[in-house]
Amino acid sequence: MTYIFAHRGSSKDCPENTMAAFQKAFKDGADGIELDVQLSKDGVPVIIHDEKVDRTTNGKGYVVDYTFDELSQLDAGSWFSKKFNKESVPSLQQFLEWITPLPMLLNIELKNNIVEYNGLEENVLQLLQHYGMMDRTVISSFNHYSLVKIRRLNKYVQTAPLYSSGLFEPWEYVKAVCSQSAHPNYKSLQPYIMKGFKRNNIPVRPYTVNSQKWMKYFFEWNTEAIITDYPILARDVLNSL
Ligand code: G3P
Ligand code: CA
Repeated sequence: MTYIFAHRGSSKDCPENTMAAFQKAFKDGADGIELDVQLSKDGVPVIIHDEKVDRTTNGKGYVVDYTFDELSQLDAGSWFSKKFNKESVPSLQQFLEWITPLPMLLNIELKNNIVEYNGLEENVLQLLQHYGMMDRTVISSFNHYSLVKIRRLNKYVQTAPLYSSGLFEPWEYVKAVCSQSAHPNYKSLQPYIMKGFKRNNIPVRPYTVNSQKWMKYFFEWNTEAIITDYPILARDVLNSL
């Protein structure tokens, strides 16, 4: 059984990292949602991918220079399609209010590999604790120092290093950064690497798997999960096997 995670929500059909994209992922039959978290100027965990708001909103400049109130007033949907002009940058808390009653898994990516956010790890853990989401969540990051910090703060929450390629024996690296699973770029997962992860009982959730060919490859390996922009397509491919 391979879980299907919607990458930034159902980001093929909706503007990424918005409530519309998350709600669509649930309707599409995704088992879980992947999203990106940074901190606003006033320390609120917010869901947005880029360090700057320019690409996905009508604002300009760095996320960290906006208070949450200011971010909330930006249009985070029109860049994708005018019909999404009511979408805004959600806070992690708003998202957790929505997902907690649903039977869904969660992958929070800490987007702190370029901008340093003091207190990001503590704030995210506090919210997960408050909403009782700790055991349904895996925290990932390209900032592996941050994952070690998470583990020091909380020894129960699952963590996973994100990486694109080039790690020697990545299953050993996962253990070295106090994590329990790996989130590699799918292109790095040749069969001998898949075998190494299996031998070491390390679950793998590759990103971003959008073609039928690669979906099939990972489903046949019985990979823990895939992270995809197309959860509907992934569900169809899985059902057809
Ligand atoms: O978590 C997997 C994937 O989201 C990492 O890359 O740039 O899409 O956040 P990115
Ligand atoms: Ca991400």
